[in-house]
Amino acid sequence: MTREEILSTTVAFVKQQLAETESGHNWFHIERVWRNTKLIAANEPVDLLVAELGALLHDIADSKFHQGDETIGPATAALFLKGLPVDETMATHVVNIVKHISFKGGNEEQVFSSPELAVVQDADRLDAIGAIGIARAFHYGGFKNREIYDPAVLPNLEMTKEEYKNSQAPTINHFYEKLLLLKERMNTATGKKIAEARHRFMEDYLQQFYGEWNGEC
Ligand code: ADP
Ligand code: NI
Repeated sequence: MTREEILSTTVAFVKQQLAETESGHNWFHIERVWRNTKLIAANEPVDLLVAELGALLHDIADSKFHQGDETIGPATAALFLKGLPVDETMATHVVNIVKHISFKGGNEEQVFSSPELAVVQDADRLDAIGAIGIARAFHYGGFKNREIYDPAVLPNLEMTKEEYKNSQAPTINHFYEKLLLLKERMNTATGKKIAEARHRFMEDYLQQFYGEWNGEC
């Protein structure tokens, strides 16, 4: 199998696995993260195939849609990779990317790191900010039946992961609780640069949003 065949086999598998997923996490999210990965990786000393496979498989089974079970994604990726002619070191590395990509910081210790994980993590975070990030946030909020905004409900930066998941807070709060913080969490120089532009776009968006809300523009 050539490199291209390995990738196209993976694309076909991921498309089929995600066929039923809500649109914040569908194939198009994966495709954007894959593109971002190639863009960032061009400036980083990484094994591009590892990074691309990591990007393609990173949301293969989101724990949000599997009763919080975080082992299904890595296990699904591992099983799939067994059927490909990639050596065990590479397969293990890709599975580690899938396992550790959504590391949220906080008190848990990050047990795995690699330049390839850093690239894919940045690529995934970029898709949560900017114009796409805004669309995904409101889409997710709608999926969860949340208000777009409520001036009486203030952002809460102290929530645990569990509280956050079950919170009915309006979607605007998500900007302060997560999206506007991502710029500072980027791993790579290219990721940071793209994140800064997307961050400014979100700030402008919020200003316009409040202006319209208050009948000022
Ligand atoms: P990713 O797959 O990019 O790692 P998540 O699975 O955490 O991200 O979330 C998927 C999308 O849903 C992201 O765009 C994220 O901003 C959005 N999202 C997650 N939680 C919320 C929330 N509480 N309110 C609004 N949007 C959310
Ligand atoms: Ni993702």
